[in-house]
Amino acid sequence: MTIRVAFSPAGLGKEEVAGRGVFVIDVLRATTVVCAALHNGARGVIPVGSIEEAIKLSQTLGSEDVLLTGERNGLPITGFALGNSPLEMTEVAVRGKTLVMTTTNGTAALLATTGAASVYLAAAANLTLAGGKARELLGNGAELLILCAGRDGRFGLDDAYSAGRLVVEALGDDATAAALDDAARAAIDLVRRYGPNWRRPLRLSAAGRQLAEIGMQPDIADAAKQDRYPVLPHFHDRRIGVE
Ligand code: MLT
Repeated sequence: MTIRVAFSPAGLGKEEVAGRGVFVIDVLRATTVVCAALHNGARGVIPVGSIEEAIKLSQTLGSEDVLLTGERNGLPITGFALGNSPLEMTEVAVRGKTLVMTTTNGTAALLATTGAASVYLAAAANLTLAGGKARELLGNGAELLILCAGRDGRFGLDDAYSAGRLVVEALGDDATAAALDDAARAAIDLVRRYGPNWRRPLRLSAAGRQLAEIGMQPDIADAAKQDRYPVLPHFHDRRIGVE
């Protein structure tokens, strides 16, 4: 049993994903947003790689129950029903709806998981559930990959810290429950450095600073609340639903 961490999907080989239990993290904000939407009754979320693809898919699905969601440069996309804020994913807005979503880094990370044995989404918002599932998979002998969305193909402090939190949660009381690669060890070191409060690493990260610049600090505060949206999103057959 091993736990590996990838700090970004850039350069990730197919063989590093194949057959693994994968947890995708984009704490600011895509995986937090999916947790919020599913927790508040969305029927499902379909991640796609581009604005054009999102529009085309929503036209093909052609239902009033489909909502276009996402961001570019952190801001809502012109013509889309919703942006990429967990605070927008209210019950009134999303109950019974299917969200077609495109974001800068988060949806790309999700789409990089082809060939995985199973794919789950993790964030502070669902840490206990995601950690429990990771523990269960390890107990069944699975090899795990924690895939951070990162930022433009690079390391992001917010996701790397979150990966460390997930590794710690997955290991539970047994620090030897899995062999860790160097990236997983480094992620745990970030948890030692920043401690249990999510706010500081989220605020200090480039993603957090960008959100602050565009006046979206409340999203950081929401994303930093542990177990705020207790659902375990499962990505299967191009669609994310609740496990
Ligand atoms: C992303 O996918 O890069 C993020 O979710 C960006 C954001 O929320 O602004």
